Amino acid sequence: MTLSKFGKKFTRKAGITQLMDDLGSAMAGGDMLMLGGGNPAHIPEVQQRFRKRMEQILAEPDGFETLIGNYDGSRGNEAFIEALATLLQDAFGWDVTPKNIALTNGAQSGLCFLFNLFAGEMPDGSKKKVLFPLTPEYIGYADAGLTDDFFAARRPSIELLGDRLFKYHVNFDELEVGEDIGALCVSRPTNPTGNVLTDAEILHLDAIAEDRGIPLIIDGAYGTPFPNIIFEDARPFWSPNTILTMSLSKFGLPNLRTGIVIAPEQIASAIGEINGVLSLAPGGVGPKLAMDMVRSGEIMTISKEIIQPFYKQKAFQTLELFEQHLGDVPCRIHKPEGALFLWLWFRELPCTAAKLYERLKARNTLVVPGSFFFPGLENEYWQHKHECIRVTYAQNEQTVARGVETICDEVKRLYG
Ligand SMILES: Cc1ncc(COP(=O)(O)O)c(C=O)c1O
Repeated sequence: MTLSKFGKKFTRKAGITQLMDDLGSAMAGGDMLMLGGGNPAHIPEVQQRFRKRMEQILAEPDGFETLIGNYDGSRGNEAFIEALATLLQDAFGWDVTPKNIALTNGAQSGLCFLFNLFAGEMPDGSKKKVLFPLTPEYIGYADAGLTDDFFAARRPSIELLGDRLFKYHVNFDELEVGEDIGALCVSRPTNPTGNVLTDAEILHLDAIAEDRGIPLIIDGAYGTPFPNIIFEDARPFWSPNTILTMSLSKFGLPNLRTGIVIAPEQIASAIGEINGVLSLAPGGVGPKLAMDMVRSGEIMTISKEIIQPFYKQKAFQTLELFEQHLGDVPCRIHKPEGALFLWLWFRELPCTAAKLYERLKARNTLVVPGSFFFPGLENEYWQHKHECIRVTYAQNEQTVARGVETICDEVKRLYG
């Protein structure tokens, strides 16, 4: 059978799809140390709350039947959207009404819709791109454009911190935003690095975007107000020019596929219309399970008091393990500021990060090689892309500890 261009684009096995398959079979296989994937941890205190809420719903007359038996509207569950608008107004004073919100089947699809609303082929025949002002950036953006040559990206500036840490910053000196850019996008906190763009960087990016008449998309999959996996002081940000995406995945419901887009009314409405065409409506189970927590504001306290400390403790424990085991390997780690990952930079690594990934896999330890996290910089040679790996610390303590030891042992052998 002959596939269309669309068919060809979405079936060509991107490197990352192969890698995800690897991760999937490793999960099924059993004895791999899984420091590669992005699955959030199962946090008992959070899961118990969802279990209890589900039991309440099941005990209500017609509770089960309405949970599974009714479509929501194409913008998503209205009661949830109203509760969320109220929460954002009350907590942050944002001028957000239900008309500014649309739900999607996971933030991933919401981001894909947004990218294709602002970039690709424009009505006048010109072409526009989404610009990532700072790479490394989230691997999941890489193939989300419906046309080729869809993304542009810039290298960061690098601040060295002490002997072992470093931090990426937006290199504003090199950040030209030309007529061919339709939107700026950053994840905050950033997957894969755990970087949290500073308040000043966000304000500066917003000012640039506003000046160019384009939106600044902030992907808050790990950010505020929930799941709030942020270890630094970072002000939640919103402006009429900003589009913020959020998700219930890292709050503990990745399998219920609930993404949230907060945007100017016209854009929130467009998201609803795309939902209608592509999937009729977003799923309603996630919103129903989380609704009471949004109404009461508990979603923010659970994030602040349970989820954030849970990951923070793991982040710094894993960092300490690396510090203990790395010895004199010339490795720097991105300052852990949020999300679920440590980002390791091996200076002048004697092989590529992809090769290191293979060698670690042969020793039953899975990480993700850094070169996948540079969407928009695919055609640009930069040694740094091949010197980094992403390590997830969401798994249990023994798995992470054994994984860290194997990584350190393998790189010591490599540097010889
Ligand atoms: C930065 C970032 N954005 C978006 C997503 C997508 O999240 P969702 O599960 O809501 O589709 C992820 C998932 O890992 C992510 O890491």
